[in-house]
Amino acid sequence: MKRVIYPGTFDPVTFGHIDVISRAKELFDEVVVTVAINPTKTPLFTIEERLFLLKESLKDYNNIHVDAFEGLVVDFARSVGAIGIIRGLRAVSDFEYEFQMALMNRKLAKDITTIFLMPHEKYTYLNSSIIRNLAELKSDVSDFVPAVVADALKKKFL
Ligand code: COA
Repeated sequence: MKRVIYPGTFDPVTFGHIDVISRAKELFDEVVVTVAINPTKTPLFTIEERLFLLKESLKDYNNIHVDAFEGLVVDFARSVGAIGIIRGLRAVSDFEYEFQMALMNRKLAKDITTIFLMPHEKYTYLNSSIIRNLAELKSDVSDFVPAVVADALKKKFL
């Protein structure tokens, strides 16, 4: 059983994240998508809302679990018996941050490998801040996020 985790803030989940998850689920037996409870960020959506939106967006996938974690990502990976951490690389600009994080995680836990997957190029310019910003300005975000997320954003910015 090869299990990996895919950690992130997911504020909110986008088609870019889902693209990475779809690729990971073809390569591994199980993907645990895990929402970071990060006290340094002030997300738009609560942890419960982000979990709900992920669960709804991924309900048709059968080898995916959705969870939340606090603390070190490698500790969470160990606690669920994962062999690796999936991260998406969208563009060169992601590389430095991801490289640093991957090396630190390897230092902390040499048995857990970071695996980088590239989402489809049509999602390279996508991130959650842009989506939140578009939604706040009442722009249509349905090309970028699942319908349940688009609805939740509409309600947030009524
Ligand atoms: N498609 C669209 N957007 C994507 C994406 C993809 N495939 N991959 C990443 N993004 C976007 C996210 O939406 C997010 O956008 P935003 O900043 O505009 O909101 C941004 O890229 C950051 O991505 P995210 O994956 O959420 O990373 P993060 O910097 O919030 O870090 C953790 C998340 C969980 C990996 C990190 O906080 C962590 O490891 N925390 C635990 C502490 C720890 O273990 N520290 C030691 C390791 S260094």
